[in-house]
Amino acid sequence: MSLIAAANWDEWVAKSVALLRANRIEVDGCRYTAPSTSPTAHAAYVHQFLWDSCFHALAYRWFDLAMARDELRALVAAQVQDGPDARMIPHMVSRRGGSEHLWGRPDRSLITQPPLIAVTAMLLHAGAPDVSFLAELYPALCAYHAWFDRRRDPDGDGLVCLIHPWESGWDASPRWDRAMGLPHDMAYEQGRLARVALAARLVEFGCDAQALLRAGSYCVEPVDYNAIRAADLEALGEMAAALDRPQEAAGWRERTARVREAFQRKMVRDGYPYDLDGADEQPVVQESAAQYIALFGGCLTEAQAERLVAQLRQPRHWPRFLVPTSPTDAPAFVPDRYWRGNVWLSVNWLIYMGLRRYGYVALASELAERSLALVAQAGFWEYYHPLTGQGLGSTPHSWSAIVLDMLGRERGLAPPRLV
Ligand code: GLC
Repeated sequence: MSLIAAANWDEWVAKSVALLRANRIEVDGCRYTAPSTSPTAHAAYVHQFLWDSCFHALAYRWFDLAMARDELRALVAAQVQDGPDARMIPHMVSRRGGSEHLWGRPDRSLITQPPLIAVTAMLLHAGAPDVSFLAELYPALCAYHAWFDRRRDPDGDGLVCLIHPWESGWDASPRWDRAMGLPHDMAYEQGRLARVALAARLVEFGCDAQALLRAGSYCVEPVDYNAIRAADLEALGEMAAALDRPQEAAGWRERTARVREAFQRKMVRDGYPYDLDGADEQPVVQESAAQYIALFGGCLTEAQAERLVAQLRQPRHWPRFLVPTSPTDAPAFVPDRYWRGNVWLSVNWLIYMGLRRYGYVALASELAERSLALVAQAGFWEYYHPLTGQGLGSTPHSWSAIVLDMLGRERGLAPPRLV
């Protein structure tokens, strides 16, 4: 019998409750869940991280809807109020300080992270409809997406670029080596120091993507990020419709279509999606798990999806533990080094949802099964070794609770409607 079928739902809820409650933080009237409060975790992991909070909310909705909503409220409460980056939602919010050394201010970073808040809000809404909660978030999320257009699309093509690898959430991925001017076989420390130096450069340039692009600084238009943005714009359209604003809903649908059209025109080469690097938009022809996230945003045709799924089924992308961020035969593959070929359950969830979107339901189920097996065997880690299944990074790490969402979906359960 599969683990999904045999798993005791109440036990998995209890494990997730224990994990997320242990990492919960209340400060300045906000409640959020830190990635990890374990003394062995990186010091920054007590701060709030944008996409982590979305994954936390998606796990919370199965047992604590009020907390799921508060997780998103805390993100929106941190929206930047003034200056050139007004309306950005920061990737990291440090309400008790701790960001000064990197960002020149104590309370937050100067960059953002994958925009998943509207998607998350609409998934909460699907399980437990509440238009007043949507109404609360909607203006902030509209303004956040307008910020992307203003500050992260210097060539105006509808695709957003990132000015720091930390914006992608895939901090140390080999996808960024060329843009960072680093060799694939660098030492970990070399990469880390380059990222810290780039943060200082952003402060110096006032995070102006135009100026950074002109100066030849890191500037990448990533496949996964733009697909997530397409999904978030689409979710904003659904939100507008739920709020009875049909004209705005149509506007968001158009915006979504524009991203998908630019994605097709610029990112798809020989039928496969690739990141684009620099002012001349050079394709970064590397296979990675990010390509599968194109499915999440509905950015591929059925035929392209079929070819991509055939690639995913190859053993180098589909080894014993799934899905490594780089295929196991890639020159830069290092299975136990942060983002250089490990398994992250946050990434798995995005691929899982994308597979379902395109009708690859059985493959999605297998991914859910293997994700659950990983946590059953190793516990809630930040990431995992794709060949041994060993947990890596910090533990207990909150976002791996996202397996609960896969389990609930696979079991056909409905999230509770009452708080
Ligand atoms: C690391 C990851 C990033 C995540 C953060 C908190 O920096 O690379 O994606 O948001 O940790 O878990």
